[in-house]
Amino acid sequence: MKAFVIDGYKEPVHATEIPTPTVGPHDVMVKVAAASVNPLDTLIRTGEFKQLLKYPMPTILGHDVAGTVTEVGSAVTGFAVGDEIFSRPRDLRIGTFAEHIAIDHRDVALKPSNLSFAEAAAVPLVALAAWQMLVEKGRVGTGSKVLVHAGAGGLGSTVIQLAKYLGAHVATTAGTSSVDLVTALGADDVVDYRTDDFAEVLSGYDLAIDAVGGDNLSRTLTVLKPGGLALGVTGPPDAGFAKQLGAPKPFEFVLSLLSRKVRAAAKKRGVTYAFFYMHADGATLATLAALYEAGHLRPVVDTTFSFDDTVDAIAYVDAGRARGGKVVITHE
Ligand SMILES: NC(=O)c1ccc[n+]([C@@H]2O[C@H](COP(=O)([O-])OP(=O)(O)OC[C@H]3O[C@@H](n4cnc5c(N)ncnc54)[C@H](OP(=O)(O)O)[C@@H]3O)[C@@H](O)[C@H]2O)c1
Repeated sequence: MKAFVIDGYKEPVHATEIPTPTVGPHDVMVKVAAASVNPLDTLIRTGEFKQLLKYPMPTILGHDVAGTVTEVGSAVTGFAVGDEIFSRPRDLRIGTFAEHIAIDHRDVALKPSNLSFAEAAAVPLVALAAWQMLVEKGRVGTGSKVLVHAGAGGLGSTVIQLAKYLGAHVATTAGTSSVDLVTALGADDVVDYRTDDFAEVLSGYDLAIDAVGGDNLSRTLTVLKPGGLALGVTGPPDAGFAKQLGAPKPFEFVLSLLSRKVRAAAKKRGVTYAFFYMHADGATLATLAALYEAGHLRPVVDTTFSFDDTVDAIAYVDAGRARGGKVVITHE
C-alpha cells in the first residue's frame, strides 16, 4: 500500500510502498477515507518524544483517521466489516497517512452519521484532548470559567465549543483575523493576542489551557483564581507525563526538573500547573460522537488536501498557514 513515512528522526516525510498491515486479535482493519494533520506528527518526526515514544523506523505518521472497517480481529466485539468509523489510534500504533491501518478496536468509535469522512477525520485527537482536559482534569461545569489560548487552532476551536456545551464562561486568545471565528464558536471573551495582553483583562479563571508556552504560560498563571489549574499542552512536561507513558522512574525525575520553575511559580500563587498529553480512548470518542450527531459540536476544517499531497499538507500546518481549524487529507 502507499503510505507517508519517515526513515528516521529529523528525516523528511516521503511516500513509499509498504506492506499492508495485518490485523491482530483486538484490531480492526480500516480502509482510510480521510486523515488529519496534527502538530504532534511533526513533533514525532523531529524526535521531540523519542526518549519516551520509541517508534520503529520507517514509521508511518498520522494520528487521526476516518474510514471503513474491512476486517475484524478474532477478539473484536462491537465492530463489523462495513462500519464507518473514526479514531485516534494509540501511541506507537499511529500511521493514518496510509491507505490502510490496523487499529486496536478499543481506540475506535462509529463515525457520527451526520459528518463526512473528511469532517470526522478532523475530530478525534482534538476532541479527546478537549474532553480529557475539561471533563476529566478540569471538572468543568455550569459557571466554570475557562481560558483557552489559540482558540482558532484545531485544539482551541474544539475546546471553546465543548466548554460552552458544558456551561462554562469561555475566554480565548486569537489573532485579529480569527476573532470572528472564535466568536462564532461561542467564546464569551476574545483577546486579540496581537494587540492586547490577556493577563491585563482576564481574572478569576478556574482552568486555563496554554498551547503557546514560555512567557505566555507564566502570565496565564496570573489569571487563575486561587485553587485554579493551568494545563500546558506544549510543555514543559512533568513527572506525570513520564508516568502516563510508562517511562522508567528516572524520567519522572528528569521531567519534573523541566517544569520545576513553572510549578514553583504556580504554587506561590496558590494554583497548580500540570502538563497535559491526550490519550486514545474509543469509549470517550463514542460519547463525543453523540455530541457531534446532536449538533452540540461541529468540526472546524481549515482546508483539505488530497492523499497524494500529504507532504504539502504537513508543510502547510508546520508553516502556520492554517487560518482556522484542522487540515484534512482525503482519499476521495
Ligand atoms: N498535549 C496534547 O495532548 C495536545 C493535544 C492537541 C494539541 N496540542 C498542542 O497544542 C498546540 C496547538 O495545537 P493545534 O492543533 O490547535 O494547532 P494549530 O491548529 O496549528 O493552531 C495554531 C493556532 O495557534 C494560534 N496562535 C499562534 N500564536 C498564538 C499566540 N501567541 N496566542 C494565541 N494563539 C496563537 C494561531 O491563531 P491565529 O490564526 O488566530 O493567529 C493558530 O490558529 C500545538 O503545540 C499542539 O502540539 C497538544
